[in-house]
Amino acid sequence: MRTIGVDLGDRSYPIHVGPQLISDASLIAPLLAQKRVAIVTNTTIAPLYLDRLTAQLQAAGIQVICIVLPDGEQYKTWQTLNSIFDALIANRCERRTTLIALGGGVIGDLTGFAAATWQRGAPFIQIPTTLLAQVDSSVGGKTAINHPGGKNMIGAFYQPRAVLADLDSLKTLPERELKAGLAEVIKYGFIRDAAFLAWIEDNVDKLLARDLTALEHAVVRSCEIKAEIVALDEREDDIRAVLNFGHTFGHAIEAGLGYGEWLHGEAIAAGMVMAVDLSVRLGMLAAKESERVKRLMQRAGLPVVGPVLPGSRYVDLMSVDKKVKDGALRFIVLESIGAAKIRSDVPADTVLATLKACTSAA
Ligand code: NAD
Ligand code: GLY
Repeated sequence: MRTIGVDLGDRSYPIHVGPQLISDASLIAPLLAQKRVAIVTNTTIAPLYLDRLTAQLQAAGIQVICIVLPDGEQYKTWQTLNSIFDALIANRCERRTTLIALGGGVIGDLTGFAAATWQRGAPFIQIPTTLLAQVDSSVGGKTAINHPGGKNMIGAFYQPRAVLADLDSLKTLPERELKAGLAEVIKYGFIRDAAFLAWIEDNVDKLLARDLTALEHAVVRSCEIKAEIVALDEREDDIRAVLNFGHTFGHAIEAGLGYGEWLHGEAIAAGMVMAVDLSVRLGMLAAKESERVKRLMQRAGLPVVGPVLPGSRYVDLMSVDKKVKDGALRFIVLESIGAAKIRSDVPADTVLATLKACTSAA
């Protein structure tokens, strides 16, 4: 097992990465303020992993409440959040009852937001079971639900007590989801680590074949980069925004098509191609990098063009992006591979040119 620390003073926590972690109650038991937990999961993950986790915790003398939600991005809503609270009330959960998110980013974001607001803040632990959640959503304390008009619009910054990334859980992940997770791994190379991007280019086939050594390196290096950025700027006043590389475009795709139509990672992959195109148009990046980026996305089985949205809603949707500051859109662009920059002075014509070049109408 490898452990990476997220350094946030008295809210610091470990990210454990390795095999068989779902079966290891010793990573959870010492963190509990009360020998009682509420596990939040969904109808897909419950038959795969819930019994194992529950049995291990019960064997350690911990009382377990299970909350099983419907599966899908379209359920990342107020209504589902309320159903978590209904279950917590019905089971007389207290403020010291720890919530455990067992699942992908949807479960992690919902559970984290529930924990942030349940009795004004209950402890929670992330057990991410998708590649995307292991490398990104379970780390850093962003929690949220969607609004029909904007992705992740309602939420809180609220850190978990620990993250347990069980690499064995990736064995049951559908291939499309594995590829979607690779998009966020690739993101870290673009924004922070050119050598890591080159390593991904060399190892993409091993990652797709679920080689455990390659997956471990991908998860550990991604978490190291995310932990470093989150420690510098927990609440995204500045540098943390670079973690949203490709997300301004990608979130517009997700909201514009309807949540769940494209996977988050797929939308971010097309969004990153757009962000690279924008960087080239702004004269910041050599044109040849566009081809390199597209080649890697294609090898990872990810989309390289965005969809045409009904009514060309990209610009509309991007204008409610959380990075908008004083009414100005901000884009994460690249100065070079491995070095991202935030720009709030991108001319509207340049954005439109990128959208024209990078959507399937082009
Ligand atoms: P997801 O949570 O929808 O999971 C993908 C699918 O895989 C689901 O059907 C799920 O039930 C299934 N699944 C999960 N683990 C499995 C396993 N081990 N075996 C078989 N099936 C499994 O999607 P995701 O890609 O994990 O997360 C996307 C969400 O994460 C989006 O809502 C996005 O906004 C959010 N996100 C949040 C952050 C953050 O910082 N909080 C960062 C990135 C993404
Ligand atoms: N996924 C972007 C962030 O955590 O800031």
